[in-house]
Amino acid sequence: MGNVSPGNAPIGVFDSGVGGLTVFREIMRQMPNERIVYFGDTARVPYGSKSRDTIVRYSRQIVRFLLTRQVKTIVVACNTASAYALDDLEKEFDVPMIGVVKPGAKVAAKASRNGRIGVIGTEATIGSSIYSQYIEALKSDAAISGKACPLFVPLVEEGLWEDPVTEEIARRYLAELIDIDIDTLILGCTHYPLIRSTIGKIMGPDVTMVNPAYETAQELKQMLAETGLLNSEQPGLGRDSYQFYVSDKADKFIHFANSIIKYGILSAKQINIEEY
Ligand code: DGL
Repeated sequence: MGNVSPGNAPIGVFDSGVGGLTVFREIMRQMPNERIVYFGDTARVPYGSKSRDTIVRYSRQIVRFLLTRQVKTIVVACNTASAYALDDLEKEFDVPMIGVVKPGAKVAAKASRNGRIGVIGTEATIGSSIYSQYIEALKSDAAISGKACPLFVPLVEEGLWEDPVTEEIARRYLAELIDIDIDTLILGCTHYPLIRSTIGKIMGPDVTMVNPAYETAQELKQMLAETGLLNSEQPGLGRDSYQFYVSDKADKFIHFANSIIKYGILSAKQINIEEY
């Protein structure tokens, strides 16, 4: 059975679909000896156009599922769920959790020189104004402009990462942020780093792009260290270290996951999330 220390339990990571793999990838990179269980809610993506109640209900079901996998902590690798559900989940469940919004806001507040910060995200995330709240608390003179980009998630989920259609849509969405001369742009949806090169091309080299995944993984590492939950053993890369679950279309997920994580995902299991 091996060592049963709590630190050797896996980290649970979830998103509405493949986007959270950008956070998974970063955790893998920064903490190579951690086990991870990933859940992508591929049957119910996108979350960004849904109501708060639905986002909370979906997120709660996923946390219940992840707890059956004996996770030691949960990373809400979805800005939309971080914005609407994280507070409720933290009250309801007795497991340490971390979202992506607070770490992203922190990096952006630090990175911006002219104080003009753009945030792109789902309709729900932008509608929540959560990034503005966190950034203003850290940098009171910041001017934050949010822009919902609802077509980005379906384009990413369809694999159109570098495609003229994605570029044209991105140009339309980003035009107003270019006009107001932002110097920092938060990729406030975990799907967006997958089209980072398209977004970067349009915004130009003077705009710093913030991917909250890096800081999230750093804060996670710190939290695990402080609570004595870092893995003390060295499981090494392999099938046993990472497990993937989805609510629909496991084959499609594996295909995309393999292009995001250069690791060779061999299997993803489909589960009925409505049972949780
Ligand atoms: N990737 C998610 C986020 O960070 C959600 C995308 C969606 O399902 O709409 O917001």
